[in-house]
Amino acid sequence: MSEHAKTKHTGIYGWLDERTGIDALINETLNEPIPGGARFAYVFGSALIFIFLSQVVTGIFLSLYYVPSADHAHTTVAYITKQVAAGGFIRSVHAYGSSAMVILLLLHITQTFLYGAYKGKREVLWLSGCVLFALVLCMAFTGYLLPWDQKAYFATAVGTNIAGEVPFVGAWIKSLMRGGVDMGTLTLSRFFVAHVMVIPAGIFGVIAAHVLFFRKAGSAGPINEHPVEPKLPAEMFYPRQVVMDAIVSLGIIAVMAFIAKTMPFELGPKANPSDTSYLPRPEWYYIPIFQWLKYWPGALSFLGVVVIPGIVAFAFASLPFLDRSMERRPWKRPIAVGTYVCIFLALFGLGAVSYNNDHSNPVYAKQIIAQEKASEDFMKAPFEPEVSGAAPAAPVDPVLAKGAKLFETQGCSGCHGDKGVGGVCPKLIGISSKYNAERMTALLKKPAANMQDGGMMPSDLPADDLAALVAYIESLK
Ligand code: HEC
Repeated sequence: MSEHAKTKHTGIYGWLDERTGIDALINETLNEPIPGGARFAYVFGSALIFIFLSQVVTGIFLSLYYVPSADHAHTTVAYITKQVAAGGFIRSVHAYGSSAMVILLLLHITQTFLYGAYKGKREVLWLSGCVLFALVLCMAFTGYLLPWDQKAYFATAVGTNIAGEVPFVGAWIKSLMRGGVDMGTLTLSRFFVAHVMVIPAGIFGVIAAHVLFFRKAGSAGPINEHPVEPKLPAEMFYPRQVVMDAIVSLGIIAVMAFIAKTMPFELGPKANPSDTSYLPRPEWYYIPIFQWLKYWPGALSFLGVVVIPGIVAFAFASLPFLDRSMERRPWKRPIAVGTYVCIFLALFGLGAVSYNNDHSNPVYAKQIIAQEKASEDFMKAPFEPEVSGAAPAAPVDPVLAKGAKLFETQGCSGCHGDKGVGGVCPKLIGISSKYNAERMTALLKKPAANMQDGGMMPSDLPADDLAALVAYIESLK
């Protein structure tokens, strides 16, 4: 390092380096000695960073069109999916990217675990990885709601309800997430802000810390290497490991692009909160947890939602503190590896039970097929733009329209307010219960004394205009 720092660069790079210290920074991040040399087993960390950047880029494109409100979110996502050039493709790459991230994360953790690469002064490195794990799961959870289709709405309703089960603070957490009792625009904007600002900012920061801690601890190397004092000859990260990382990252992008192209990620019909028959199902990586929570109804939920997951998460995070031996070969660590395998088998088993429940129960199976069919049909249907205003405006009666116009041009609105809501003079809304059309016509032709005192002039409008004006006033409700 110190040798390298003294090297003087020339040209533009030298100019820039003198002013920014970029050379030292690049060395600090990339010039990593790897004991035993580059390997494909080490690619997962870099691949994760690569997919994360892909999520950032595709996410920026999506947010160019997306509107986080209960009224518009679904239409804007439908617009992206059906109208925008390559919109459906970008959205699919982003949506499948979340699965790719979870898969790579599991591979990265598994590799670190099996290689015992968390051992030897790597506790903080491991903990920062745990924080990243949690943040990625939060990204998956918050992103799922944003399309505001049936699936998104009901899965998030279940998710936020589960958070509400936590004793003492549950109700508070739930209303914090939802922005109130029910789910609506406030929920969407909270999830949106978390998904595009708060959590990504956290991920950027923690990735930087994670890489820094990794560089400080150094690459652990193969399983027979000592984690603190490596003996094997080292090879630099650049170029061979970089090439391996790049090959794998490009391979992942190619696979995702292929899947996105051949199986566009679906958007279902718009969320309908009053649909009581909808069967909510989360994304595949949340299914085991979803199934697990079913076993803890009512008073037991405290155990199932808080205590047991809390113990598992805590044990997982404290792994490098619990497992102090420097032995790294998996076959010499039967308890650690056995526990890890058991947890995976349990998650896999829960997923299988959930799948089996859904497909063996005829009512569920029918409902799930109906839901899938509804999504397919929605995808096939052409894009329907939003009609401005909540409901299409009622057809306007030409006589009333004429009367409304006269109400303004004759100066009535000047005293009685816009649409007769009242101003300096009494409101006219509901006046039909006081005067019928005939009486009204007479009054307007010859206003009563109190009206004349207030400056209201007799009307000299032609008969049909007067009739239209009267019809309009009588229609004010
Ligand atoms: C210069 C102000 C002024 C203008 C302009 C005016 N009004 Fe009036 N209007 C009054 C006043 C003052 C009253 C009586 C308020 C009261 O009851 O003391 C009144 C009363 C009325 C009433 C009876 C309300 C009631 O509750 O009994 C009707 C109907 C009415 N106006 C219709 C109209 C129409 C239609 C026009 C337009 C052609 C019009 N006014 C223009 C001042 C005005």
